[in-house]
This record gives sequence, C-alpha cells and structure tokens, in this order.
Amino acid sequence: MVVTGAAGFIGSHVTDALSAAGHEVLAVDAPGRSLAPEAARRMWARVASRPGVTAVEADLALDDLDPLAAADVVVHLAGRPSVRSSWGAGRAVAERDNVLATGRLLAACAGRPARLRPRVVVASSSSVYGSAGRRPNREDDPPHPASPYAASKVEVERLAALAARDGTRTVLLRYFSVYGPRQRPDMAFHRFVEAALDGRPLPVFGDGRRSRSFTHVRDVVAATLAAAAADLPPGIPVNVGHPEPVAVRSAIGLLTGVLGVRPQIQREAPVAGDAARTWADPGRAARLLGWTAGIGLAEGLADQIAWHRSLRVREGVRVG
Ligand SMILES: NC(=O)c1ccc[n+]([C@@H]2O[C@H](COP(=O)([O-])OP(=O)(O)OC[C@H]3O[C@@H](n4cnc5c(N)ncnc54)[C@H](O)[C@@H]3O)[C@@H](O)[C@H]2O)c1
Repeated sequence: MVVTGAAGFIGSHVTDALSAAGHEVLAVDAPGRSLAPEAARRMWARVASRPGVTAVEADLALDDLDPLAAADVVVHLAGRPSVRSSWGAGRAVAERDNVLATGRLLAACAGRPARLRPRVVVASSSSVYGSAGRRPNREDDPPHPASPYAASKVEVERLAALAARDGTRTVLLRYFSVYGPRQRPDMAFHRFVEAALDGRPLPVFGDGRRSRSFTHVRDVVAATLAAAAADLPPGIPVNVGHPEPVAVRSAIGLLTGVLGVRPQIQREAPVAGDAARTWADPGRAARLLGWTAGIGLAEGLADQIAWHRSLRVREGVRVG
C-alpha cells in the first residue's frame, strides 16, 4: 500500500492506522513542499520509524512515480491544501502540487496493464461545491469553485474521472474541514487553541457566522481506509464530512468552554473564496462505505486540545 502526503496531517494518521493494522506501507512525501515544512519534517521522522513503513522522499511533480504504480492501493493525500494560501503566487503552487502531481501519478498508473493498476484513492475537497445552500451538498451537485485551490481540486477530479474511463479504479474523497491532533498550524482550530493557551485573542477571519461540516481526523481515517478496501464505481466522488454543520462562533464557544477561558476575539478580514457554509450530505458514504462521521465537535475539540497541551508539556514545543 502507498500513502502519498504521509508527513502531512491526514496522511500521517492514515499511515499510523495502516501500520498499526499490520500493513506494509510505502510512505511518500516531500516535506519541503508542505505549507508547514517544519511540522512536516518532524512528522516525517516519526512516520518513518513506524513498524512496516518504508519512507521515500519524492516530489510527485518531478520524480519517477513508476514504483508507486506497482502497489495494490495508492492513497493519494499529497498536495497543497488551503483556500487562503492559493491566491497570488499560491495559484501556481496549487496547480503544481495538486493538478500536475496527481496527473503524473495517474499517468504512471496508466503505464501498467489495467488489471495490474492500483486502486487510487484521491483527496478532493468540499471546496469544489462552493457555498452550500438550504440543503447539504450531494455529490452530483455541480461544482462552484471560488478560489484557485478549489479550481485545482475540480481539475484533480476531472483527471481522476478521465483515468477511471481509461480503466484505473479511482475514487475521490471530498474531505470537509478536518480537525484533531496534528492539525496544521495554519488551520483555524489550531490557531484558536494556540492563541487561547497563550492568553491571546483568537484570530477569526470574518464575523464567525460561517459554518462548516467539521470532521474529526479519526473519522476521516476510517472513511479513507474503507474507500481503500471497497470496490466502488470507478471515478466516483464521495463526501467525507460530518452531517451537522456548526458555526465558527459556536465552535469557539465549545473550544473556550473546554479550555475554561473567556472567549476574546480578534477579527481579521474574511478570506476571499471561503465558503459561507459547507454541509455534507452523508448518504453516499453511508451506502457505499458503511461510514458516517461519529465524533461530535465537543468530543473532537477536547481531543485536539489535549494534543496541544501534551505537546507543550512533553516537548516544550509551541506549534502555532
Ligand atoms: N485538512 C483538511 O481539512 C482538508 C480538507 C479538504 C481536503 N483536504 C485535502 O487532503 C489532502 C491532505 O490534506 P492535509 O490537511 O493532510 O494537508 P498537509 O499539507 O498536512 O499534507 C499534505 C502533504 O503533501 C506533501 N506534498 C505536497 N506537495 C508534494 C509533492 N509535490 N510531492 C510530494 N509530497 C507533497 C506535503 O509535504 C504534506 O506533507 C490534501 O490534498 C488536501 O487538499 C484536506
């Protein structure tokens, strides 16, 4: 089994879970390409030491990917996340590390006879929908990308659909706002918890009314492993999101409640292209993967906060 992006937030958890289940894993990453290179380098060293894991540093946009195509399954999580960082010079980075990298990986798979190609589980994003309306987004809703990041994921999906037509078994997982231990330093809850632990106001983009189908990384790992093991219609997109969206300001109430501090907010300008609401329809994932998000936000935030605290105590590391 291959995991790309194994030094990343989601990829490191997926690799840990596969290692714990006794799988041999070829873990691939180029930690220097990460939005959070220091965190990725720290994680890379830990991932490489897990039982059954062989860690190979490779840039998917440059290096030879034929060895990856020899696997039975590739879980492709490498890429450049983040709507905010995709504006300006970030657009070219999103195109390189999302579109070009995925295209090269799928081309390497296509170089093998169809029956010998791996199943490829590809990370997509709720951002392909744009903002949800009065009902949750279903997978057949048309795309409305509102940022270069979202546009890059629409293109990644198109490449995966083309590869499926050509005989490669691809599946697209549309992840919704993932959080939990190891969340990247640029992400909202990470910034909020670190600010609160420092006694600083919480930096909030916009007015806090935006809502998200926040999904705990443990649930995301379970969905990803289910997709890696399932025989799904090739090229199919599947939502991986909690079915109940929560407003950012309600999440802040929960978070400061767990921390036992008074919420102090520092408002920052809203991020262009950030959806007003993301809302996952869970039906397809339940039908095809037997998966539904089970971790509620109060429990999940307590888990993430415990991680921030343990890092400070054990390693003296401030990761914000
Ligand atoms: N975290 C979320 O909330 C979320 C939501 C929707 C979609 N996604 C998608 O899920 C995937 C994983 O997200 P994450 O939060 O773990 O991100 P992450 O940044 O923590 O991990 C991505 C990893 O990919 C690696 N990488 C980047 N470019 C590479 C390249 N050219 N070659 C090799 N490795 C490369 C990085 O070094 C990093 O370790 C991404 O595709 C992201 O767009 C994440």
